[in-house]
Amino acid sequence: MKTIDDLAVAGRRVFVRADLNVPLSGGAITDDGRIRAAVPTIRRLLDAGAAVVVASHLGRPKGAPDPAFSLAPVARRLGELLGQDVAFATDTVGDSARETVAALADGQLALLENLRFNAGETSKDDAERGAFADQLAALADAYVGDGFGAVHRKHASVFDLPARLPHAAGGLIATEVGVLKQLTDEVERPYAVVLGGAKVSDKLGVIDHLLERADRILIGGGMAYTFLAAQGHEVGDSLLQADQIPAVREYLRRAEEKGVEFVLPVDVVAAKEFPDLGTKAPAGPVELAADAIPAGLQGLDIGPRTQELFAAKVADASTVFWNGPMGVFEHPDFAEGTRAVAQALIDSPAFTVVGGGDSAAAVRLLGLDENGFGHISTGGGASLEYLEGKTLPGLAALED
Ligand code: 3PG
Repeated sequence: MKTIDDLAVAGRRVFVRADLNVPLSGGAITDDGRIRAAVPTIRRLLDAGAAVVVASHLGRPKGAPDPAFSLAPVARRLGELLGQDVAFATDTVGDSARETVAALADGQLALLENLRFNAGETSKDDAERGAFADQLAALADAYVGDGFGAVHRKHASVFDLPARLPHAAGGLIATEVGVLKQLTDEVERPYAVVLGGAKVSDKLGVIDHLLERADRILIGGGMAYTFLAAQGHEVGDSLLQADQIPAVREYLRRAEEKGVEFVLPVDVVAAKEFPDLGTKAPAGPVELAADAIPAGLQGLDIGPRTQELFAAKVADASTVFWNGPMGVFEHPDFAEGTRAVAQALIDSPAFTVVGGGDSAAAVRLLGLDENGFGHISTGGGASLEYLEGKTLPGLAALED
């Protein structure tokens, strides 16, 4: 994979595909981690004398402009972080984009509006995606792929555009891939993996793959209740994917056969109803054994004994990968499990990797020290698909 060092950028217009898909609430950015992660590559290109055209998606608009998903707040934050003006184009390949890009001098930058405002970006039709990629290619002389969080998407700006321009991987992608290689090709044992999040169906591929590689798999979050049900426990009104129980039973069987330790919650924090995240009103949490959740209550976090158990399993590992919160961390009554796991990673001497998305946001929202981790990935889905051993379109496109 070529890097920026292999690309002539001085005096050229360089298109940077970043992943600036940050969470917004009422138009305000609630976690700017991905914008901060995009800054070093952009800074480097500007300092090298390029005129930089940054592009990203935000959310999942339906192929047409939708003000709720505008990148305008991101342009402001990017400008603050870079300490320089960011010219904002109010479209992707229209008059505004063309004029904004044409006006850039070397060392200046522009941000295009949300790429997903154009249906060609995410189209399954190669010709439609290709036509959009042609229009994007006309805006620049070279391409730098640095949106690690989107490399698992076969989208025009990720997959088709690099084929049309001299291209290289940016520093963020190079770092992310280097870390993931350490988790696959060169892992130091014991290797513990902590998985959480709502749905077990999102994690089947990675569990399947990890059964061949990890020494311990710790399961928390909403997905834990399907595991508990697969072991024959009552889970009350907790989140349950009953159709996944056979697959989960098979994983538990294979784990036993291979000597992979599966660690499930032994206690939970439950409530009658899913908490109101808007008001964060008290939800009446109760602590229960994980094998005794009655009807009328739902588990919403791992309990204190599980927090201790998980911390011990992380403490003597040499490598730890964590993806997915342990509970509804956005509500204070159910944040302790996620906080405890994050703190266990910080306290562990192991090489620790936080796998993007919600877990990375949780680290920052809970005010934990980001420097306490070996690496915080900007890609949740992308890092999981990498660990599953899949070919990622956005990396394949940068290979040649
Ligand atoms: C993410 O948030 O995981 C990336 O930005 C990709 O977004 P997507 O899942 O909407 O493609």
